[in-house]
Amino acid sequence: MTHGTDARTRGTRVPCSSTRWSPRDCRCSTPEAFTAVLPARNVTRRHHGRVSVSSSILAELLPPDSGEWVPVTGGESGASVVYDCVQQRYAKVFASNLVPELAAERDRIVWLHETGIPGAALLDWRESDAGACLVTRAVPGVPANRLEAPALQRVWPSVVATVQAVHGLATDRCPFDGGLEQMMPLARAGVAEGRVIVEFLPEALQYTPPAQILEQIEGELPDRLAQERAQLVVCHGDLCLPNILVDPSTDQVNALIDLGRLGTADPYADIALLLATARDTWPDEETARRADQDFAEKYGTELDPERQDFYLRLDPLTW
Ligand SMILES: Nc1ncnc2c1ncn2[C@@H]1O[C@H](COP(=O)(O)OP(=O)(O)O)[C@@H](O)[C@H]1O
Ligand SMILES: [Mg+2]
Repeated sequence: MTHGTDARTRGTRVPCSSTRWSPRDCRCSTPEAFTAVLPARNVTRRHHGRVSVSSSILAELLPPDSGEWVPVTGGESGASVVYDCVQQRYAKVFASNLVPELAAERDRIVWLHETGIPGAALLDWRESDAGACLVTRAVPGVPANRLEAPALQRVWPSVVATVQAVHGLATDRCPFDGGLEQMMPLARAGVAEGRVIVEFLPEALQYTPPAQILEQIEGELPDRLAQERAQLVVCHGDLCLPNILVDPSTDQVNALIDLGRLGTADPYADIALLLATARDTWPDEETARRADQDFAEKYGTELDPERQDFYLRLDPLTW
């Protein structure tokens, strides 16, 4: 669906006709049944600072064609992501204050699609005074955080290859900036407004005041900015395992989703999140280290733990 849809629906009320929104008691199967996944694991969580939208906003913004929508569990923004088990599509619905964030994701979906990197196709964009709704085609497969360690190990080469492919895109053709000049104002605002959720910080920092974490980050900033300039790549921007959809029958990555923060940045912004969230799956420290090492060899880098640590401290302050 083109952005023409955006122009057509902007500022208009979207009628809800045959759409069936079922917060509970839905007749159709859930996405979990559709993808036959394992139970959700306690994945390292990061705060997305979004309030779930109300049922009435959902009903207003979901496409009016027939569909049976159920809430998606396992995402990071609560009930604002819903799945239509009739037409096998996902909708992400945000209230009006977050429309620019969702529009940013829409634009990045379109851009990444043109590069040939696997993603979820954009089907529709709907907007009204109440908010906006981004509809994507359901990608078959499972989020990588649902895999047990042996399956994640098998898909790991494809994960590395996909990250390499994204990081290998020409930065001068990418119109989106996801770097520190964008992230720092978000972190400063998150801290100043007391929005940082302690549980989303690395465990060792959960008793450190966010203002102190930010101060340390500010101290390192000149060096990190220099590294970013020297090694700028196109980053996914939120490369946690739930945003990597994989096919366990082929051990291949089927799609990268949740592209709202895609843009040029330091590759370690992605690498840090990927390796940290994979740690929730690896059964012990030795396996985790081997996976990290395997990633580094295949990707072609020497891991830089301090740089990883920097991005792991920064990320939770920015949502
Ligand atoms: N197009 C899609 N195909 C398959 N699964 C999807 C799709 N879109 C979303 N999902 C599922 O919904 C979850 C939440 O969607 P996501 O866009 O990542 O939202 P959030 O910002 O809440 O993390 C994903 O982790 C994935 O399991
Ligand atoms: Mg996500």
